[in-house]
Amino acid sequence: MTPATAARLYARAFPASRPWSADEFARLMADAHVILCGDTSAMVIARIALDEAEILTLATDPDLRRQGLARTVLQSCEDRLRARHVQSVFLEVAADNMAAQALYKGFGYSLVGERPNYYRRNDGTAVAALVLRKALVMI
Ligand SMILES: CC(C)(COP(=O)(O)OP(=O)(O)OC[C@H]1O[C@@H](n2cnc3c(N)ncnc32)[C@H](O)[C@@H]1OP(=O)(O)O)[C@@H](O)C(=O)NCCC(=O)NCCS
Repeated sequence: MTPATAARLYARAFPASRPWSADEFARLMADAHVILCGDTSAMVIARIALDEAEILTLATDPDLRRQGLARTVLQSCEDRLRARHVQSVFLEVAADNMAAQALYKGFGYSLVGERPNYYRRNDGTAVAALVLRKALVMI
C-alpha cells in the first residue's frame, strides 16, 4: 500500500468528503504511532497514544463491499493494537453512516459521545459525529 493508493481508495470510499492527499497518507505512514492494515481493497488506519488508540479511517472499495473485507481489516487492526498493549479504541462515525455503525456495533463498540455538526460535506451540509469506544480484551 503506497500513499497514492491509500489516497485513491479513500477518495473512492468517501466521495462526499474532502479527499486526503497522498502527502497526508505519507505523513501518517511515516508515523511510528500509526498502523495501517489492509491493502488497495480495504484499509483501516489507527493512531496509538499510550494505551489508547483512535481509528482515523476505515474504507472498503465501493466495488468490493459486503464481502467481509472491513471486518477482516478491523479484526487485524485490533489484533495489532492488542500486541502494542492498547486497552481501548475510540473512533468517530457520521450519525447517518448506518453501514459503518452496524459494523462497529457488531465489533462491540458503544456510544460514548456526540459532536454536533462535526462532518462538513462537499455539498455544504453538516452531520454529527458519534464517538464510539471499545475496551480491548487481552487474549
Ligand atoms: C462501512 C464500510 C467500511 C463497510 O465495509 P465492507 O467491507 O462492505 O463491510 P463488511 O462486508 O466487512 O461488513 C461487515 C458488517 O458491517 C455491516 N455492514 C456493512 N455494510 C453495511 C450496509 N451497507 N448496511 C448495513 N450494514 C452493513 C454488517 O453488519 C456487515 O456484516 P454482514 O455482511 O454479515 O451483515 C464500507 O461501507 C465503506 O467503506 N463505507 C464508506 C467509508 C466509511 O463509511 N467508513 C467508515 C468511516 S467511520
